[in-house]
Amino acid sequence: MTTIETIQQGEAHPTLSHHEQIEIGRELQATLAELINLALLGKHLHWSVVGAGFRSIHLELDEFVASWSTLADLVAERSVAVGYSPDGQAKTVAESSELTDVTTGPLPDREVIQILTHRLIEAVANCRVRIASVGAHDLASQDVLIKVALALEEQLWMVRAQRDR
Ligand SMILES: [Fe+2]
Repeated sequence: MTTIETIQQGEAHPTLSHHEQIEIGRELQATLAELINLALLGKHLHWSVVGAGFRSIHLELDEFVASWSTLADLVAERSVAVGYSPDGQAKTVAESSELTDVTTGPLPDREVIQILTHRLIEAVANCRVRIASVGAHDLASQDVLIKVALALEEQLWMVRAQRDR
C-alpha cells in the first residue's frame, strides 16, 4: 500500500463512489505534490540564477512560484471537496517525487532555462495523463486539472521562448 493509499478518507460524495473518490484523489494528490515541488524548485532557481538574464528570470520565477502555489491550493481544495484528504507535507511530497536534484550554487541563466523547460515538459505530460484518467470519473475535477495544464503549458511556452536560437 502506498503512502497515498493510506491517507485518511473524508466524507462521502453525493454521487461519486468510494472507489471513484480514491481514484480521483490519487490523481489530485500526485498533481498537488508536483506543484509543491515546482514551487520549491522555482524559489531555488530564483536564488541561484546568474548571468545577463538574471533580472528577468529572477522576477519571472516569483510569478511562476505564485502561480504554482495558487494551483496547488486549488487542487488540494478540490481533493477535499471530493472527500479525499490531501497531504502537502514535505515528507510526503519528497517521497512522491521522482525529480532529480538541482545542484546548489550559482546557475547560469541558460542552464536555468533548460532545467525549467525540462521540468515543465514533465509536469505537462503528467498532468495530461491525469486529465484523461480523472475525466473518466469526474468532469469537475478534470476541469481543475485542465486549469493546471493551461497554466503549465503557457509557462512552458514563455520559458522556451527565452532559449538561445
Ligand atoms: Fe525573492
